[in-house]
Amino acid sequence: MPLRKTYIVEHLDPELGQWSELEYIAIARETQRSGNTFMLSSLPEAFQVPQKLAEVPAFKAEKRGVEEIYGEGNGKDRVCLLDPQAEKDLNPDDKGEFDVFLFGGILGDDPPRDRTSELRKKGFKGRRLGPVQMTTDTAVRVTRMVIEEQFTLNKIPFVDFPELKFNDHESTEMPFRYVTDENGKPIMPEGMVDLIKKDADKSIDDLF
Ligand SMILES: C[S@@+](CC[C@H](N)C(=O)[O-])C[C@H]1O[C@@H](n2cnc3c(N)ncnc32)[C@H](O)[C@@H]1O
Repeated sequence: MPLRKTYIVEHLDPELGQWSELEYIAIARETQRSGNTFMLSSLPEAFQVPQKLAEVPAFKAEKRGVEEIYGEGNGKDRVCLLDPQAEKDLNPDDKGEFDVFLFGGILGDDPPRDRTSELRKKGFKGRRLGPVQMTTDTAVRVTRMVIEEQFTLNKIPFVDFPELKFNDHESTEMPFRYVTDENGKPIMPEGMVDLIKKDADKSIDDLF
């Protein structure tokens, strides 16, 4: 069993939006700190790796899909798909069973559209991270806490559907579960709150 773990996000959206870019940078930096590898797979031929991702040594860009990299007889049974519909929750003992943790590179949606099914049908073993939808960077963070830091899911501090308050009049509710920091605030990628505020302002402007 390799000591190092690999976290793979299989890119499933047609392009890399700003939201995903911020999430992937956060995943890359945190994976770097823990001494593991973060791979973005299934990238389109013309994909340009953003500078802030390229400069993180733990990050690998991969054009092949995960099935091609870890096929039958080639480590497939050591890959765990993090799947909101899986029957079993991820637990610290899974550290011994899996070397690779696979996530759907899709934006969260409300209600969830179950696009993780695109990876489920490839036949990887699945584990759930509890019943509530998380952002992709949160799902990787939680997996790392369970596998590397040996937390059980019920010991991780979470907040569900936090409200982001921009000023006295503007706020928005995020339809996801997040890990909280020592002040009880949801952990989000650097730049995400500004991006959400910009998007909220834009949709208000679009009304007029
Ligand atoms: C933002 S979620 C996308 C969920 C999405 N609504 C869908 O269609 O499946 C991105 C990825 O994070 C992981 N994920 C998020 N919440 C999860 C949970 N509660 N259990 C297991 N995996 C989860 C899955 O790998 C999922 O593909």
